[in-house]
Amino acid sequence: MSSLKLAVIIGSVREGRFAPTVAAWFADQAAAHGGFEVDVIDLAEADLPLALPAVPPALEPDPPRPAGMLDLTARLAAADAFVVVTPDYNRSYPAALKSAIDWHFTQWQGKAIGFVGYSGASGGLLAIEHLRQVFGELDAHTVREYVAFPRYYLLFDDEGKLREPDEPVAAAAVMLDRLHWWSTALAAARGARVGV
Ligand SMILES: Cc1cc2nc3c(=O)[nH]c(=O)nc-3n(C[C@H](O)[C@H](O)[C@H](O)COP(=O)(O)O)c2cc1C
Repeated sequence: MSSLKLAVIIGSVREGRFAPTVAAWFADQAAAHGGFEVDVIDLAEADLPLALPAVPPALEPDPPRPAGMLDLTARLAAADAFVVVTPDYNRSYPAALKSAIDWHFTQWQGKAIGFVGYSGASGGLLAIEHLRQVFGELDAHTVREYVAFPRYYLLFDDEGKLREPDEPVAAAAVMLDRLHWWSTALAAARGARVGV
């Protein structure tokens, strides 16, 4: 069993959000994969001020952070890989997610990142494509594979279960395999202590 740590990040913090349903489904897939220790991070639990520190975290990796962000920072730092669960907000991703990204640098650097998207017709893909550009600047590697739920409200039932799970389950498995391959390689390259 690998000790690679995978952080699943819930990117929407709004009241009445659907995000936790998608994240819970994906966390189950990640646990079933068996290659990761899974940590679900809910950005709604973090203090994420829009006012950033005076010096960018790329230059000052450990700026003063609000007390309500310290748990988030520690869990991002501990992760070897990430899966960002994101909706499309006006053809991009939620502002809370951008804030969480911009408050950090080394916590993302040299790590593998996958995506699960959901929304109306575009299924989160517009957010995902923007995030790929952003994470490139964070010196992170985004994997090619992804899971998308266009018109998610037709795909999940009232209990939050997928009506036809086979295709998304297969897509998640393929993405997790690639994420495992990349995060194993990148952990070794970072000199991270992984494995038991
Ligand atoms: C501010 C805002 C902008 C949105 N923009 C889009 C959009 O560009 N494309 C789309 O398909 N859905 C869009 N939606 C619909 C969301 O994808 C949908 O409300 C989804 O449930 C949002 O995820 P959440 O409930 O986890 O916050 C938008 C929703 C909000 C709140």
